[in-house]
Amino acid sequence: MKINPFNPNSPTGPGMFAGRIKEIESIEQILLQTRANKGHGFLLLGQRGIGKTSLLNLVKYQAEGSIKTKDETLNFLVIEIDITKDTTLYTIIKKIELALRRKLAKSEPTRKLFSDIWNFLGKIEVAGAKVNTERDFDKELLFEEFSYSLADTLKRITAKNGENFESTHDGILLMVDESDNATKDLDLGTFLKLLVERLQKEGTQQLMIGVSGLPKTKEILIESHPSSIRIFEELNLDRLNDEDIKYVIKRVLDHSQELNKKRTEIEPKAENNLVRLSEGFPHFIHQYGYCAFDLSDGLVITDDNIQKGAFGNNGAIEKIGDKYYRDDFYNKIKVDSYRQVLIIMATKLDDWVTKKYIKSKFKGQPATLDNAINALRTRGIILSKEGTKGTYRLQDKGFAWWITMNQKKEEK
Ligand SMILES: Nc1ncnc2c1ncn2[C@@H]1O[C@H](COP(=O)(O)OP(=O)(O)OP(=O)(O)O)[C@@H](O)[C@H]1O
Ligand SMILES: [Mg+2]
Repeated sequence: MKINPFNPNSPTGPGMFAGRIKEIESIEQILLQTRANKGHGFLLLGQRGIGKTSLLNLVKYQAEGSIKTKDETLNFLVIEIDITKDTTLYTIIKKIELALRRKLAKSEPTRKLFSDIWNFLGKIEVAGAKVNTERDFDKELLFEEFSYSLADTLKRITAKNGENFESTHDGILLMVDESDNATKDLDLGTFLKLLVERLQKEGTQQLMIGVSGLPKTKEILIESHPSSIRIFEELNLDRLNDEDIKYVIKRVLDHSQELNKKRTEIEPKAENNLVRLSEGFPHFIHQYGYCAFDLSDGLVITDDNIQKGAFGNNGAIEKIGDKYYRDDFYNKIKVDSYRQVLIIMATKLDDWVTKKYIKSKFKGQPATLDNAINALRTRGIILSKEGTKGTYRLQDKGFAWWITMNQKKEEK
């Protein structure tokens, strides 16, 4: 039995984390500003699997002081929230309260103090049980009560003597992940902006908010409140470079030694191909690596393992496709002509393709082709070249490989 050291399905811990130096620097800076009562937030944007949650994990370790930040050990109280389609204002507030309670209300006196500060929630729960929906209690009042309670808590825990809580903190770091799930009803942008402004008025800027999600999160915040994004520094996560990817591979193989008590090597050619296949997407390294390791003898990962692991039956490309591409290909587009365009483009991988070329291969009316290209563009499935008319490409090579593989399967 060998244990697979690659882990495509969960965010990475700090031990295998690679790159993101620029983003980490920016966030460290904000942490230090926040500690000095001059905080603001950050907005972390990036595609599926690019490493948002992994970076947030690292920041959490830094903020809590398990890893040092510029030679200093920070001591933030960290609250993590994931937004789902069902998240309401009430659930966010409740989640914040629960996290604070767990970390602050540890002894009898602090439990009492905590309950006194947050007792408005108890009243709402009683009311809520009677009326049963959030709509029936006043959202504005809920916000008022909450922001005063948070300001009070924040002032106490950042006071030099811990102001009746057991210890003193550098501030609170609130991390809101999966924010692209925020519904209109939740009004996340307005909530966060008003909260920050309210705390400022109360004289504390020691709350740092990190919001993370798919790139469309930015539009969601703007739609909720046009100037809400002003409270955030925007950080966009892109692909990792080849050096970072090699580092990830190395760290994973080190980890394999810990797990299996035997060293796993990778042939140089296999490593190069793993880097090439990954295209800088951290999720892909783990998925391609996982499938290759599975086929290997656990001692050496060969190039054959990489190739079969990627392109073989139930291989990495299929898995990646199910996660990232299937929806674009089958659900977001219902029209065969659209798919035909993608299939033509896939023969050129992610290189730029002219409309003229697509036209020469396309079976159908010119107007149908125009429609198809337009639809694919507006849905963000293909990219158009800036400053050049009629030139397009697919997002990444993986998508092209997957389309071609799927094509072959359907022909069988
Ligand atoms: N900087 C990194 N170094 C090493 N591995 C990483 C890094 N970032 C991400 N990974 C790996 O990539 C995969 C996806 O990472 P993660 O879950 O953090 O992405 P995400 O952007 O939060 O994805 P989603 O949009 O699905 O929530 C995981 O297997 C993780 O271990
Ligand atoms: Mg995530």
